[in-house]
This record gives sequence, structure tokens and C-alpha cells, in this order.
Amino acid sequence: MPDTLTAALAPVEPPLAAPLGLLAELTHRCPLACPYCSNPLALEDRAGELSATEWARVLGEAGRLGVLQLHLSGGEPMSRRDIVEIVAAAHDAGLYSNLITSGIGLDTARLAHMVTAGLDHVQLSIQDTEADSADRIAGYRGAHARKMEVARLVLEAGLPLTVNAVVHRANIERVDALVALAAALGAGRIEVAHAQYYGWGLRNRDALMPTHAQAMRAVGLLEGLREKYAGRMVIDAVLPDYYARRPKPCMGGWGQRSLNVTPSGRVLPCHAAETIPGLHFWSVREHALADIWASSPAFRAFRGEDWMQEPCRSCARRHVDFGGCRCQAMALAGDAAATDPACELSPLHTMMQALAEQAGEAPPQYLYRGRAVADAMAQQ
Ligand code: SF4
Ligand code: FES
Repeated sequence: MPDTLTAALAPVEPPLAAPLGLLAELTHRCPLACPYCSNPLALEDRAGELSATEWARVLGEAGRLGVLQLHLSGGEPMSRRDIVEIVAAAHDAGLYSNLITSGIGLDTARLAHMVTAGLDHVQLSIQDTEADSADRIAGYRGAHARKMEVARLVLEAGLPLTVNAVVHRANIERVDALVALAAALGAGRIEVAHAQYYGWGLRNRDALMPTHAQAMRAVGLLEGLREKYAGRMVIDAVLPDYYARRPKPCMGGWGQRSLNVTPSGRVLPCHAAETIPGLHFWSVREHALADIWASSPAFRAFRGEDWMQEPCRSCARRHVDFGGCRCQAMALAGDAAATDPACELSPLHTMMQALAEQAGEAPPQYLYRGRAVADAMAQQ
């Protein structure tokens, strides 16, 4: 066949849309030690972190690439002394900036500087409604009281506030109280997310997993609460995968909507992508962000549908959920290209539910992320 005809008959890839969001993990340092932390088990150290100048270049590239929203995360982003400089760079790049924080390290003066620099939004994590339990989950005494104060400071500064609440066995019975607390704090939105079991969460799965009855009760309560708070506060809920019948469309599809930049500049399609062996992640220190988005081997690995196996390959929902979560498939099936076991069409679905039921009965004993002081609190 002549080359020109071969080229004409080759499948045409749809044009690649720009990413909507960029999650900037400014540091893995954090005063808290939550047992479901989304950071990797091997935390990056301070010496390797991108400087504020490097971040400014990356954020400029992100703006030109079409990114709209920047999530300043960590670890704890307030652990960066140059956070105000980074916020200013985000503003200059035309990005809507959202600070995702534990509240520790955020005071009136620093908040005022960030507002002046152009910060748009604050997302504050809450561990529980009761201080003793919240501090035990965070592995940091006094954290809860500080968070209550920080919520007030955020509103006083005129910024919109979202409350993040990760739910698991220790707090799931109080999901309605968590929503009420967010409303009382003046949040415009609460994100109630069931703990995700990768990295630290997977290590702590037995201690974090709620029972099926607890999870279903929480799901029902949240539906009613959405109606109750309609028009006053938005309630977003991430459902518990292990008790689901269909998987979530993780990340809105691998490499389709967002980028995640680690403290030292490696660019990942999702926060847990490094749990998948064999993927090669390009760094912003060596490549332009636009090149990484378009051509990085890690982003191309599970983009589109060519990588899919049955039953996803011929399933009508493959455009809806993209086969679920690649990291969960890796963690449970040992194959990142497998159907997410959260799907009832996966041959491993029953095994996943059995794991959840067993775990939901285990005594809660946390392995905190990387800190001896938190380990000591766990024994109390
Ligand atoms: Fe989604 Fe795959 Fe399950 Fe179909 S088989 S619902 S595409 S995970
Ligand atoms: Fe990595 Fe879902 S967390 S694809």
C-alpha cells in the first residue's frame, strides 16, 4: 500500500484538550501525620524541593497551557516560607489559586500577605467534630482548636472557604455533625471523601475501613443533608470504593483533566501514580509542562482506551468511568491495566468486598505517616 494511503487510513487521535487543574505539592513536610495521607510512603525531602523561582516558571507554563485552577497542596503548603511568592506567581499566571491546608502555620499576617498576593480560595481539612478524636487522627495535639480559629480568619479575610473531611471508621458515625460543623464555620462547600486506599491509606486500611453498614448509613445521610443544605452549602461526596458497584471516574480519566507536580518537580497523572511500577515520570526541571502533558510516557500510558482489557474494552460505561482507578487496579489486581475491582464486573470484585468486611472488624491502630511523636499518640 502506498505510504500516503496508509497515512490516510490510520486512525486519527482526537486533539488533546488542555488540563483544567494542576495540583502543586509544594512540599511533603507537614506537622500532621494523618494515617490516610495521600503523599507517597517515601516522602521527598526539603533539599530537593523546587524553588519559588522554579514554581513561578512552571505556573507561567501552566497558564499558557490552559490550566485554570491551581491547588496549592503538600504536605502542608504553609511549611514553605516562600508561599506568598508562589501565590503571587500563580496570580501573575492568571490561575485561580486554592490553598489546601491543615491550618497549622496559617496566621492573620501570613493570610493577609497571601490575600494581597492574589489568593482566591482556602480549603481547610477537618479530622473530626470532637477535638480529642480529631487530634488523635491528625497525630497532632491542639490541631482541631487551631483549625476552628483558622476558619474564622479565612472568612474575616473575605476568602471563600471549603471544608475537607476525610471519613473512615473513627469519624463516619458523625458525618452529619461534620457537615453541621462546616456550615457553622461558614463554609460554602464541604467535600466529604471516604479514605482512599493507596500509599499510607493502604497501609492503614484495616484501621480505617468502616463496616458496610456504617458506609451505607453515611451515604444515605449525605443524600438527605444535600437537600437540607441546598442553597446554603454545597456538599460533595466521594463514595466508598470498597462498597461500590461501579468505580469512580478517577481523575476524570487518566491524563485527561489534570496534572500533579511533586515537590521536586516530577509530573504525575494522579497523586498515587508512583505506586504503579514501570511508569516513567518526566520532570519540570528537564521538560516544558506542555511537552510533559502531551508526550510524557506516564501520561500516555493509560490515556484513551487502547490499554483497556475486558470487560472494560467492550463496556458501554468505558467513556463514563474510564475503567475506574489505575492505582486501585494496581493495588488490588497487581495490574494497573485491569478493571478496577470496585466494578462488579471485575472478577476481583467479591474479593475486594471481602477484604473490606474483614478490615472493618480489625482494631483501629494507626501507622502514622513518618513521625515518632504521632506513633506515641497512637498508643494512648
Ligand atoms: Fe467501568 Fe470497566 Fe466496569 Fe464497564 S467494566 S463499568 S468500563 S470499570
Ligand atoms: Fe491514580 Fe486513581 S489514584 S488513577
